[in-house]
Amino acid sequence: MKTLLIGSGGREHAIAWKLKRDGAKEIIAAPGNAGIAQIARCEQIASEDLAGIVDLAKREMPDLVVVGPEVPLAMGLADMLATEKIPVFGSTAKAARLESSKAFAKVLMAREGIPTAAFQLFDNCSEMSQFLRGEGKSRPWVVKADGLAAGKGSIVCPDSYKAQFWGHEMLVRGRFGEAGKRVVLEEKLEGREASVLFLCDGENFLPLPIAQDYKRAEDGDQGKNTGGMGSFAPAKHVTQELLAEVEKRVVAPVLSALRREGTPFRGVLYVGLMLTTDGPKVIEFNCRFGDPETQVILPI
Ligand code: AMP
Ligand code: GLY
Repeated sequence: MKTLLIGSGGREHAIAWKLKRDGAKEIIAAPGNAGIAQIARCEQIASEDLAGIVDLAKREMPDLVVVGPEVPLAMGLADMLATEKIPVFGSTAKAARLESSKAFAKVLMAREGIPTAAFQLFDNCSEMSQFLRGEGKSRPWVVKADGLAAGKGSIVCPDSYKAQFWGHEMLVRGRFGEAGKRVVLEEKLEGREASVLFLCDGENFLPLPIAQDYKRAEDGDQGKNTGGMGSFAPAKHVTQELLAEVEKRVVAPVLSALRREGTPFRGVLYVGLMLTTDGPKVIEFNCRFGDPETQVILPI
């Protein structure tokens, strides 16, 4: 099989390694990285240069294109390749809204009764301040930019003063650009986290080994959120029973909701969970393999 792999991270190196191990005859990566270059031919085309990638795919005619990162998926790369009848592993832009708009994901979860943190949406800073004033000063909050922010757009705030500060930064001062023009304000949940990834064909799903990643930039779980500083798998704190609950209460309803909307989810559905005393709750969805999780999942 000839495969074209899109992306340049540790995640894509792990995917390339696994494709090779599973017998891929030829792997082309765009743009790839130094590690990937040891097992694939790298073409210097950026993963966000959609026209360049589609041209490359039309030239090379791979049996499959595998898209690693979220940005090209959210921009519609899988849709463009499908139009060219080139087989692609990765979600359409519409289905990728589960990741590219946290507001979209939260509204869908609320509608489908999927367990997640209580939330409010704001695109106006004074409305957010007014809401926070009514909620008492010392409650912790999580303020999230609606759009894509490379894992850095969620700010855990110890009190409403900090939450208000971050609301202002995003909604008024333009921190995170367009992504922060809308804000999700969430209750802060407590518990251990887990990343559960499912391979989906729009209707059916299959779980991969469960992982946990560490998002905070500094030791002792301090510092700002990142896309992930490290990870391990298998994460045995997610039991088979818990996994079954997540499949029934989260994955099945999400896939069926998107199918009903005419935008079935195909690709990797990444469910970021917090295991609370009230049961597992969804922290986030991603429309792709996680990084660094993929680096520990695929070798298993
Ligand atoms: P997200 O960008 O939504 O994936 O959030 C990034 C990280 O922020 C998560 O992995 C959690 O560590 C933390 N976080 C996000 N939402 C919440 C929440 N509602 N309660 C507590 N921590 C959260
Ligand atoms: N490790 C978290 C992510 O890939 O979004």
